Amino acid sequence: MKNYNVGIIGATGMVGQRLITLLANHPWFHIEVLAASGRSAGKTYEEAVSGRWAMATPIPDSVKNMTVLDAEKDAEGIASLVDFIFCAVNMEKAKTKELEEKYAKLECPVMSNNSANRGVPDVPMIIPEINPEHMEVVATQKQRLGTKRGFISVKSNCSIQSYVPALHPLMKFGITKVLACTYQAISGAGKNFERWPEMVDNLIPYIGGEEEKSENEPLKIWGKVENGEIINAVSPAITTQCLRVPVSDGHTAAVFVSFESKPSIEEIKKCWAEYSGEPQLLNLPSAPEHFLTYFEEPDRPQAKLDRDLEKGMGVSIGRLRPDSQYDYKFVSLSHNTLRGAAGGNVLMAELYAAKGYFD
Ligand SMILES: NC(=O)c1ccc[n+]([C@@H]2O[C@H](COP(=O)([O-])OP(=O)(O)OC[C@H]3O[C@@H](n4cnc5c(N)ncnc54)[C@H](OP(=O)(O)O)[C@@H]3O)[C@@H](O)[C@H]2O)c1
Repeated sequence: MKNYNVGIIGATGMVGQRLITLLANHPWFHIEVLAASGRSAGKTYEEAVSGRWAMATPIPDSVKNMTVLDAEKDAEGIASLVDFIFCAVNMEKAKTKELEEKYAKLECPVMSNNSANRGVPDVPMIIPEINPEHMEVVATQKQRLGTKRGFISVKSNCSIQSYVPALHPLMKFGITKVLACTYQAISGAGKNFERWPEMVDNLIPYIGGEEEKSENEPLKIWGKVENGEIINAVSPAITTQCLRVPVSDGHTAAVFVSFESKPSIEEIKKCWAEYSGEPQLLNLPSAPEHFLTYFEEPDRPQAKLDRDLEKGMGVSIGRLRPDSQYDYKFVSLSHNTLRGAAGGNVLMAELYAAKGYFD
């Protein structure tokens, strides 16, 4: 496979730091540029993250002394140095949209973690094991933007990656309705316990905008491509409650589900055990061997024990049982900054690379 030079925009943040740890020794992608806001620009990477490096492993030597660039002011220079960028910024939605379109129009593909472009019908929102066929709308997007190789692709919100992967292999039984309560880690807010001491021994029953995303984004993931755009699915009906809990990493979902044609418990477990997607078929570097793992133990999955399954790229499921109001209920878990953010973003970029979109 060809090698690609990449830039990380928002390199100093929680997702940016994860991207750095994942890309430092990546077989295809080489970190060429780090960029963030004007507050970090001009500093070495080590200076820019001083006091806020939140990863368990040290800052990789290869990036310590790189000078952080200004993502907005230096955009032209950055776009000329790299084959594509990863983007994970904490900016106003309109400004993020503008920034991502600016890079795409500079003929620099954007692999985005941000929500700003997720609702746009010709911007694919990809969970690589689930909807790789949505990548084809990139052609329509390029026409709209007037570009040859520049385009934007997004990954979905981290909360839905704790339950959509488990539901997806069951769609063939006609899922009619879903209720999901998510119990979300503090790293999902770009925080750890040092920077958010109020979360110790606490639960906050509100995450701004999260329930809307959790109910709407699955319908885009399950949408169909028509005339070069993604038309959202109209079912299943989905309702959610999203809570912030005192867990460092790992979003858990308690899920209730009903079907048109109710499968047996054995059929559901078989679907989970057998499910795999294009990343497994193509043997992509960040693909988990098993996308879904079912635990028979009644007290699994647990955030602390199971979030790192398959290097944080596997989704864990447990406690499948009948319910009195819905057909079944179960619990599922995914690592929010790996599968749900940086890892999912790198896997998505590997899929685009394998299909020649960066050439
Ligand atoms: N954390 C998660 O689990 C998670 C999961 C999925 C998606 N996301 C999404 O990923 C994005 C980043 O999240 P995060 O948790 O990493 O946030 P974060 O820790 O707050 O980091 C934000 C990053 O954005 C940069 N930034 C802020 N204003 C900027 C500007 N005007 N121009 C360029 N860069 C700017 C910051 O640079 P400075 O250091 O210079 O300020 C920093 O690098 C958000 O859109 C978030 O919704 C996060």
